[in-house]
This record gives sequence, C-alpha cells and structure tokens, in this order.
Amino acid sequence: MERIYFSFPGDEQLADRLTSRNKAVRGVMEVRRFPDGESYVRIDSDVCAKKVVLVCRLEKPDEKIMSIYFFSQIAKSLNAATITLVVPYLPYMRQDKLFNEGEGITSVAFAQLLSSMVDEIVTIDPHLHRFHTLKELYSITTIVITATKSIADWINENVNNPFIIGPDNESEQWVKQVAQKCKAPYNFLNKTRHGDKCVEIVIPEKPDLNGKTPVLVDDIISSGKTMVEAVKQLKNTGIDAPLCIGVHGIFSGNAYEELKNAGASDVITTNTIQHPSNRIDITDLL
Ligand code: R5P
Repeated sequence: MERIYFSFPGDEQLADRLTSRNKAVRGVMEVRRFPDGESYVRIDSDVCAKKVVLVCRLEKPDEKIMSIYFFSQIAKSLNAATITLVVPYLPYMRQDKLFNEGEGITSVAFAQLLSSMVDEIVTIDPHLHRFHTLKELYSITTIVITATKSIADWINENVNNPFIIGPDNESEQWVKQVAQKCKAPYNFLNKTRHGDKCVEIVIPEKPDLNGKTPVLVDDIISSGKTMVEAVKQLKNTGIDAPLCIGVHGIFSGNAYEELKNAGASDVITTNTIQHPSNRIDITDLL
C-alpha cells in the first residue's frame, strides 16, 4: 500500500527524512490559525486508499490536538486506508493515577482521545510508570521504540569511563538499559516530588565513582527541577559536575539555563523535541 507522509509545521525536516528513507510520497497540507484562534486544516494531496502518516512532535499537545483531530477527520472523509501518527514524544503520560481527589487519570483520557482519531501511533520512550505498556491505555496499535541504544552510542563516543546515575527510581528502565549498553556501572538517587516545580533529591549513599564521569540520565526534562536538584546534590557530595542526558527535552521556562547554571557539565537531549541541546538523532529509529 502506498504510504504518504504529512508533517505538522516545524516537523517538515523529520517528515522529509522519513519520506525519503521509506521511499514514500510526501503529502502537502496546510495547518494554520484563523484570526480568532480556531484551527484550520486542509489536505491538498490524494490520500484515497493510502497509508497516511502524520509526523507531529507533540510537546505542547493542547496547542495541536484540535488540528490533529481535524486532520484525521479530513483524511477519513477522503478515504485514507489507515492513519498513523508519528509522535516522537508522547505527552500526558505522567498523570497516571489520581494524585488528588477531583482529578482525572489524564493519561487514560488522552489515550482514549488519540485512539478515537487514528489507527496507529509510533513513539519513542513513553513515560511508562504505573502503566507498563501502552496497550493498557491505547485501544489502537502502538509501536514503542527506545532511544537507549542511541544514547549509549553517544556516551560511548563522547564520554570517558561513564558512571550512569538515575535521578529517581522511575528512571530505572532507561538508566539500566543505557548502562548495560555502555557496560558502565549505574546507581539511583531518591526523589520526592512536592509540587510541579518542587522536588527533593536525596543521595542514599555517595556513589564510588573511582575516577569515572557522572552521567545523569532521565526520560523527560520538563521544569528541569529533577535534574537541577540531582546536579546540586551530587556536587554537594564533592562529585565532579555531572553530564545531564534526557530523552525528551521539554525545558519549560528557563529550565535549560537553570540546569546549566546549576553546574551540569553539559546538557544533551535527543531530537524527539527540537531544542538547542539536541545531539542525538532519532530519525533512524523512526
Ligand atoms: C518523572 O519521574 C520523569 O521521569 C522525570 O523525572 C520528570 O518528568 C522530570 O520533570 P521535571 O523536569 O519537571 O522535574
């Protein structure tokens, strides 16, 4: 079946590269805002009986979700065979339980919404914590890829004697895989979250680095507080400035600057979200 790739504004380069690597067709669409802020979507290419793939980096999901919905409705009305959403970063995964009365488990609600729009999603390292697979959330086909090998390759090429450190227990799934692929030792810190921008990090026991380079690895850097506190606490114990690596660099507000000012030796991310810290390319994974 012929495959046709569309991109959201800003994701053209990624869609172009996926199109040429898959020897597929590049679709043309327009996404914009009306003067009143409502979303406008138009598909200009023939999608009838084709496998339609929409490439959309989905950080700031609330700004994009209506356009994705309209895209899927239009593609269906034009008789697309299937619709796949390539979302290198899958949002709304961290609200995976009722933390306070009156809230919702929005990871489930968001999954139901996306499942009603498209047939398949492809994503990289979703934040699976209390849910262990996307199948528990999504009723459509989900393809999950991990960037841990790409991260490990980058570390092997750029870091001497790495010692991988996870800022919290939730990071185990990434830290362990990266460390094993780098044949490096690893360790975890203890994190307690008190609020959106307030975390407390405790170092259970000072890691014996023995001349190795500390490398903090986490899946998401959002407010940056987790990484900032981890860097501060590690430095307080007299450890060399750690290198910080995140799969998904959201960096809300001044998070990037704060992390560099906290004393990280460098801050590195993959390009699941576009950011100046991107050094690890995920195109081949997709
Ligand atoms: C949750 O535990 C994630 O793995 C990250 O540690 C978290 O999302 C980072 O958030 P922030 O940068 O806001 O501390």
